[in-house]
Amino acid sequence: MVRKLIAGNWKMNGSVSFASELVGGLLSKIEQQDVSADFVVCPPAALLGSVLSLAKGTKLSVGGQDCHANVSGAHTGDTSAELLKDIGCGYVLTGHSERRTDHGETDSDVKAKSTAALKAGLTPIICIGETEGERVSGNTLKVIEQQVTNSLPDDADSSAIVLAYEPVWAIGTGKTATPDDVAEVHNFIRELLVSRFGREAANKINILYGGSVKPSNAAELLAVSNVDGALVGGASLKVEDFWAIGVR
Ligand code: PGA
Repeated sequence: MVRKLIAGNWKMNGSVSFASELVGGLLSKIEQQDVSADFVVCPPAALLGSVLSLAKGTKLSVGGQDCHANVSGAHTGDTSAELLKDIGCGYVLTGHSERRTDHGETDSDVKAKSTAALKAGLTPIICIGETEGERVSGNTLKVIEQQVTNSLPDDADSSAIVLAYEPVWAIGTGKTATPDDVAEVHNFIRELLVSRFGREAANKINILYGGSVKPSNAAELLAVSNVDGALVGGASLKVEDFWAIGVR
């Protein structure tokens, strides 16, 4: 079993004062206890500097929410994986469903971004998940297989990637997949990773579950086989909730 990873995706929320309150609150807990999970926060790009200066030298890791596939160049508004690494990030989300929907990102974009992240020395948290329509039509596993096959970098080092299974219909909706559904998909993802990396290496890859994870359902979801952590949106914006998800 791998050490659980609890990642907070702030999305487009927060401010400088919010960040200092939330990170300050989290640090006062993390630094005082020997916690059994690792925590990472992914604030909006404009808050990375503030959050990184607060988290520097602590057990709290920081990640970007996206990166560009190129190292530098004429890409107004984008941030390279190199720069995220340079300022002190350890992680970056790639292929979040909101990026796939709002910005038309395809599996091959996600693969290019994840490749850039690995090259820069960041751990990409590669997000995958089916839509409600795909689930209802019985295509969940087919979609997951395609996304895993096509979004992971070709020469991925298994020790430097994280996967996040987030059913799109469960994100921000208050709906969560049942433990049985989560188990089915996570077991399936694990076997896909086994066929690619071999069992020993695949067993060490964190597969996170995301989609309306909150303190009231975290224990049940995190107890499911092959669930190695959580990617948390809404509930990561409150210190007590985010903490309670990772530490019980
Ligand atoms: P949610 O978001 O926890 O608010 O559903 C999860 C995510 O989008 O990563």
